[in-house]
Amino acid sequence: MAKIIGAIGSSHIPAVGMAIAKKLQNTPYWKDFFDGYPPIWNWLNEQKPDVAIIFYNDHGLEFFLDKKPTFAIGAAKQYISYDEGWGLATIPPINGDEALSWHICNELVEDEFDITICQELGVDHGLTVPMQLMWPNDDNYGGIRVIPVVINCERHPMPSLKRCFDLGRSIGKAIESYHQDLKIVVLGTGGLSHQLDGQGAGLINKEFDLMCMEKLVSAPEELFKYNLRDITEIAGAQGVELNMWMGMRGALLGDVTEIHSNYTVPISNTGAGTMLLTNE
Ligand code: DHB
Ligand code: FE
Repeated sequence: MAKIIGAIGSSHIPAVGMAIAKKLQNTPYWKDFFDGYPPIWNWLNEQKPDVAIIFYNDHGLEFFLDKKPTFAIGAAKQYISYDEGWGLATIPPINGDEALSWHICNELVEDEFDITICQELGVDHGLTVPMQLMWPNDDNYGGIRVIPVVINCERHPMPSLKRCFDLGRSIGKAIESYHQDLKIVVLGTGGLSHQLDGQGAGLINKEFDLMCMEKLVSAPEELFKYNLRDITEIAGAQGVELNMWMGMRGALLGDVTEIHSNYTVPISNTGAGTMLLTNE
């Protein structure tokens, strides 16, 4: 049977991709951020998961404002990284797992999640920067296969924290009913507090971010009381990327233990959290 062995929360800031390309990891501005990753590399090296389910948001590369699925899932052989205009280099193609994707899609629709199924899906920095962070200097990403789960985080109306958590729950249940012996890791990318433009641009709320990271481990349901208007005020308009972390946490149906976390502020314009959870 397939099993979710753990989960990773990570920022996906494009500037991180630039720092990797320019080998700035050990410079004073970036060191605290990149120091959050070696424990994750060690865990991935030990555990060698077969598949990564990645909750992320597409910032306008594949789904622009004219067509915006609330939830979309990749069901492709491969996912291609395209130039999205941040000055970021594209990364090598990422392998999918079509059979597992279709199993998850079937189970989600059965469970009343009306998702958009994507047999082609270009992936942006929300997915590609974390791939580079998790599997540095590896064009094959440790041999992992990826299932992208895209949550609308760009235009209203957007799903609530609870809805994203429940989507994760449903994916977690789908994994438990998959026949193949697979080790699966779940990623949630983005956040934490940030606002990139408009009134309130530059807002970072460290106290709120750290509270969310703690609740994500011990009592994620306590975060449901925040609606997205609250989150926008407290953690900035793009602070709603917390939803990717809610999806990730929802997928963990077992006993959850935090084995590593890191928080750096500010990296680019964002409070950057990193977290590794196991699921027994
Ligand atoms: C930044 C953060 C994001 O989540 C994003 O999608 C783009 C930019 C930033 O902090 O620069
Ligand atoms: Fe983002």
